[in-house]
Amino acid sequence: MQNGQTKTGGDFKLILREFARDPFAVATVCPSSPFLARHLANSLDLASAKVVVELGPGTGALTEAVLPRLRPGTRFLAVERNPALCAAWKRRYPKFDIIEGNVANLQQICAEQGIENVDCVVSGLPWPSFDFDLQQQGLTGVQKVLGPGGQMATFGYHIGLLMPGSQRYFKLLAEYFSRVERLPWEWRNLPPAFITRCTK
Ligand SMILES: C[S@@+](CC[C@H](N)C(=O)[O-])C[C@H]1O[C@@H](n2cnc3c(N)ncnc32)[C@H](O)[C@@H]1O
Repeated sequence: MQNGQTKTGGDFKLILREFARDPFAVATVCPSSPFLARHLANSLDLASAKVVVELGPGTGALTEAVLPRLRPGTRFLAVERNPALCAAWKRRYPKFDIIEGNVANLQQICAEQGIENVDCVVSGLPWPSFDFDLQQQGLTGVQKVLGPGGQMATFGYHIGLLMPGSQRYFKLLAEYFSRVERLPWEWRNLPPAFITRCTK
């Protein structure tokens, strides 16, 4: 483990390389820390979930905290837009499903996978750096696939709060969800991050 950030130097290099290629979509120079991953996984009732979807899993830093919390038989699906990250995730979790796709098409992806009601969405997506259309399409998809009382947990960085898309994004969250909670900062991450939990 390097500085508590990642299990392998390979993950670190891959994220950095993909960040250099597509900075607004990857939006981080290293995988999330195990501390942030645990914090986020513990913010959802994963143990009771029948269907869990992870958005933007990257190299799988959050996945590592999510999978051990699932009951046997829980359906898990990851959706990742970046082909190189998608392939790296599949090498790390060969028994689990990942679709190379865009969150903008989440409803269609879930329908094609035979998924109707999702209980928990784990999001590693850089929502504030998305343009308005993608924010709207992505959040519409999440809202539509979540079952009643379903929840999404997502994280953000301080720098993200300063981006022009951030205010617009938090406004949209309030429109799409009945409850939006900001959880405490996780300082043991580079950079420090906060978690937002949204309930349908
Ligand atoms: C900040 S990284 C988080 C990676 C990982 N979850 C972590 O915490 O270390 C954002 C991830 O979201 C993916 N992503 C960005 N835009 C996306 C989109 N429109 N649809 C699906 N995945 C997307 C990126 O390719 C990247 O893997």
